[in-house]
Amino acid sequence: MLESNKSQILLAPLQGLTDFRFRNAFNLYFKGIDQYYSPWICLSHSKEMKKSHIIDVQPKNNIGYNVIPQIMTNDIDDFIFLANYLTDLGHKEMNWNLGCPYPMVAKKGMGSGMLCQPLKVVEILENVLPKINIKVSMKMRLGYENNTETSDLIPHLNQFPLTEIIIHGRTAKQMYTGKVDQDAFERCLENSKHSMVYNGDITTYIQLSLLQEKFPTVKKWMIGRGIIANPFLLEMIANQNDRYPENSAELFMKFHDTLLYNYAQQLSGDKHLLMKMESFWEYFSKSFSDPHTILKRVKKAKNKNMYDDAVARNLAEGFGS
Ligand SMILES: Cc1cc2nc3c(=O)[nH]c(=O)nc-3n(C[C@H](O)[C@H](O)[C@H](O)COP(=O)(O)O)c2cc1C
Repeated sequence: MLESNKSQILLAPLQGLTDFRFRNAFNLYFKGIDQYYSPWICLSHSKEMKKSHIIDVQPKNNIGYNVIPQIMTNDIDDFIFLANYLTDLGHKEMNWNLGCPYPMVAKKGMGSGMLCQPLKVVEILENVLPKINIKVSMKMRLGYENNTETSDLIPHLNQFPLTEIIIHGRTAKQMYTGKVDQDAFERCLENSKHSMVYNGDITTYIQLSLLQEKFPTVKKWMIGRGIIANPFLLEMIANQNDRYPENSAELFMKFHDTLLYNYAQQLSGDKHLLMKMESFWEYFSKSFSDPHTILKRVKKAKNKNMYDDAVARNLAEGFGS
């Protein structure tokens, strides 16, 4: 039986999707996220931060909810610089990304590329933690090549005062294919003294309920794509059913319009705005009975009027039916 009052739901960071414009719109209409995480930020070769990364972690852009910024680096000085930068902004905690599977990142030994270098991970933590004034959590995959790398690394992390370790139960090589490996997650759980967070492929309240039964010591569950696809998932988890609320289309429309408005402030011209909205519809469409048709309508829209029409027709079919 799901004890929803004891579980915490964390919104997974999704680069290109869950920035502050999305978080602000989502938080306005949907309750139930206990903790938001920013997509990763980093320093460039010339030790600069992208403007989009800077604005995403500004407290003034994240009002009304708590966001933990995520960093990605394999460099001690960069880690300390980013930690101090976030501390100066007033953040109390940050998350270190050891999960990004993309070859451009991993081949440089960052993100999941660190999982096969346990000594390097330990060296970085030993050097940075005494010098920074912000709590640190980590987000990892099961490994880069194979699903034992992280469970082997975890005992080395027990000596460090991390707030939590989030595990996406896939290897980097898997990218997003195949199943989440629950046995490999369990091995990480058994090896860790830290608070552990389960992540990967939770899309229904029943799945969460079953996972809770299987892993009773896990109290935090990170969900990404499942929440974007179905913003009502949190309510379903709270109510322990899979019914969409009566006013789901109306509520979704308000959320959608706020999202559109927020991105219209950033992006110039219909083309860029519609491309951004299309990236959300890749997920939203999964909550309709015919995702293919729903997404096709949005993709065919060549201008804002056509887009509005496509959205109205999609919603007329009933969100969630
Ligand atoms: C488009 C996309 C962007 C992502 N960006 C990040 C990121 O910036 N940082 C991170 O730690 N994980 C990132 N992830 C991984 C997610 O946080 C999460 O671990 C993964 O999607 C599995 O959870 P889910 O099945 O609930 O979505 C990203 C995933 C996707 C699909």
